[in-house]
Amino acid sequence: MTISIDRDRLNSLLDDERRLYIERHPRSAELFAEADHLFGRVPMTWMAKWAGGFPLYLDRAHGAHITDVDGHTYIDFALGDTAAMAGHSPKATIDAVQQRIGTLGGITTMLPTQDAEWVGEELTRRFGLPLWSFALTATDANRWAIRLARLVTGKQKILVFNYCYHGSVDEAVALGLPDGRTVARPGSVAPPVDPDLTTRAVEFNDLAAVERALAHGDVAAILTEPALTNIGIVLPEPGFMEGLRKLATLHGALLMIDETHTISAGPGGATAAWGLEPDIFIIGKSIGGGIPSGTYGLSHEIANMVAWHTTEGSADIIDVGGVGGTLAGNAMSLAAIRATLEHVLTDDVWAPMIDLATKFTEGVQAVIDTYDLPWSVSQLGTRTEYRFANPAPRNGSEAAAVSDDELEQYLHLFCANRGVIITPFHNMALMCPDTTAADVQRHTDVFTEAVRTLVG
Ligand SMILES: Cc1ncc(COP(=O)(O)O)c(C=O)c1O
Repeated sequence: MTISIDRDRLNSLLDDERRLYIERHPRSAELFAEADHLFGRVPMTWMAKWAGGFPLYLDRAHGAHITDVDGHTYIDFALGDTAAMAGHSPKATIDAVQQRIGTLGGITTMLPTQDAEWVGEELTRRFGLPLWSFALTATDANRWAIRLARLVTGKQKILVFNYCYHGSVDEAVALGLPDGRTVARPGSVAPPVDPDLTTRAVEFNDLAAVERALAHGDVAAILTEPALTNIGIVLPEPGFMEGLRKLATLHGALLMIDETHTISAGPGGATAAWGLEPDIFIIGKSIGGGIPSGTYGLSHEIANMVAWHTTEGSADIIDVGGVGGTLAGNAMSLAAIRATLEHVLTDDVWAPMIDLATKFTEGVQAVIDTYDLPWSVSQLGTRTEYRFANPAPRNGSEAAAVSDDELEQYLHLFCANRGVIITPFHNMALMCPDTTAADVQRHTDVFTEAVRTLVG
């Protein structure tokens, strides 16, 4: 018989873990209480998300480990929600950045450096697209790419999947209703325009719905991750990604693939691993080893169409056109991306990271099996995530429907109080080149104990 969770027991254990968290972190609690001049008491409001009522304050971080100001060291499987997938402060990236900004000098000058072409060529080798432009975040890379998609297709709407996340891109913070209308996702802060004007949103893994949405003829691009990763991992069903490619071409829409998280699938992301064929490719976070970086890649065809608009006078990408950012493509960011791709996130580090993610997944699955829990665990390369549903959700709405805040907080806190951190946003664990088998075993032990305490 499948075990159900006793909610009174869960709440009482959660209270115990909250008390323990407060006891163990007096200095973090004190710094949080003193932060009277920060909006939401944190430098960026997401940082308030940690279970336990206040965030751990960072003292230092190297490789796969973080030490807080109370002197506790943690195995970090959150890795800055993927931005630190290269490990914290990788030496090669630090050396290159120091050389660039200290020895040579020049952090941001609005002048190109030699690193840029090296990086462009490497991105082409990995992801296939021939031409690249840079941003400082994946959000910005997506925003710019969406403008270009609208320009070259002359169409207004972006097709996204319910519960996708592509940064704070207005078009993507949207939900599709069964009647075909699009509304702002609950919680979206003051959307600038009604998303019904900018977006069509359907369920992931539903090609018929994609086809119906495209049939309106007003979609400039489909914007998607190869697997949803921001509402748990929702893997594509066989044929889904190929179907998107075919339908996009059939209906004159572009296919934009955002691999900011799914680079976990391999050094060339799912695009290389699964043979995807995007018209525009977006990635950010990990490629700069933690230094702000983002980029989008374009096909020659799209670049030529943009160029046509610029000569004809209907678009200006060099001055007023809205595709830019003063600090984008800066010398420091490009030095960081080059060093990270050349020396840290190299082709050969994926296989051992994937092996570790597999061990992590097996550890979680063994607990699910032992206690016959109605949960599942999904892996995408170096990234793995458990969800409180079995079978695993097959689209964003199904995944959203099974979120369980109390259970999630209990498991996160139980782990954090015993030196293991997973992402605060859901139940994701990511491996970096410095993660070890012992780190993974520690998670398995702590997670087993957390579940045994709850249902054993
Ligand atoms: C798939 C995807 N795209 C884009 C972004 C935005 O990245 P950033 O916050 O660095 O702009 C995220 C962030 O989680 C993401 O998961």
